[in-house]
Amino acid sequence: MTRSLRAVRPTGKAPVTVRACAKVNLDLRVGARRPDGYHELSSVFLGVGLHDDVTVTPAKRWSLTVEGKHIDAVPTDETNLAWRAAVAVAEVGGVDEPLAIHIAKNIPVAGGMAGGSADAAATVLGCNTLWEVGLDRSEMLSICARLGSDVPFCLTGGVAVGRGRGEQLVPVLSHGSFHFVFAASETGLSTPAVYAEYDRLHEASGTRPDDPTLNPDLLVALRSGDAYALARTLHNDLEGAALSLHPQLGELMEAGIEFGALAGIVSGSGPTVAFLAADQESALHLAIALTASGTSRQVRHTVGPVQGAHLVTSAGRR
Ligand code: C5P
Repeated sequence: MTRSLRAVRPTGKAPVTVRACAKVNLDLRVGARRPDGYHELSSVFLGVGLHDDVTVTPAKRWSLTVEGKHIDAVPTDETNLAWRAAVAVAEVGGVDEPLAIHIAKNIPVAGGMAGGSADAAATVLGCNTLWEVGLDRSEMLSICARLGSDVPFCLTGGVAVGRGRGEQLVPVLSHGSFHFVFAASETGLSTPAVYAEYDRLHEASGTRPDDPTLNPDLLVALRSGDAYALARTLHNDLEGAALSLHPQLGELMEAGIEFGALAGIVSGSGPTVAFLAADQESALHLAIALTASGTSRQVRHTVGPVQGAHLVTSAGRR
């Protein structure tokens, strides 16, 4: 879908800032590995209020900068997914204009909360706006899907079921807000390593993963807005693999339950643990108790669902 090439000279346009949220998988069912190396999924995504802000500015040369805590592992070159997102929009839009990309990082890095995917989704929207490429929602979603399995959800946010490798989204009805406390573990876990461990554990036990199917009780719980009902349905097929690679996660999960969480679940491929709390008060209590006990170095209280990538500032909105 490359548009006709148009020469874009540095325009002096104002920077565009886009906010993108983290996600938690409320129900992650993982099927067998496909011939393309990905796993067939059924995932219920929920966007949560932890967010990164990505600012794109026309520049003389390409660059990427990051600010925030624990950002050592974030690449600042063309391998960063946000940089690749900008290049993808430039190619589709026929744009030839270097960009300075700045990421204000708030989502834990390598935590299974789709921080990198959120930055990529924000960059797609930011570049489409800055360069006035004119991509519609479905064109942006298709670029997002090429960049990574979680990137389309980070564009839409809210609550959605993801199928395929997670990129085919159908919105889900939900009522009210749910309070989560995210507790990050000391060391990050790589997503491919966790999926590989999932395969290894199945091979070792001589089992084959079930075809991924959605739990209907979860959809009922989301519609009712009942945190207790939702807590009973949280499920992550990757949890065993994440725990196998990082056994300390078990202690973190136990501590959260002891401090009053309704349920705890490894977020995506981990190693962040997402605890669901009954309400705001118990979430605050849980966050304080987890921090005070020293069980986790980064504890964050947040609420979902929230919308996906959206403009915070752009030339037209100043
Ligand atoms: O799509 P994304 O680049 O985010 O995926 C990162 C890695 O996670 C893939 O290379 C693959 O190892 C694993 N993955 C998978 N099945 C999925 C999604 C991701 O095996 N459905």
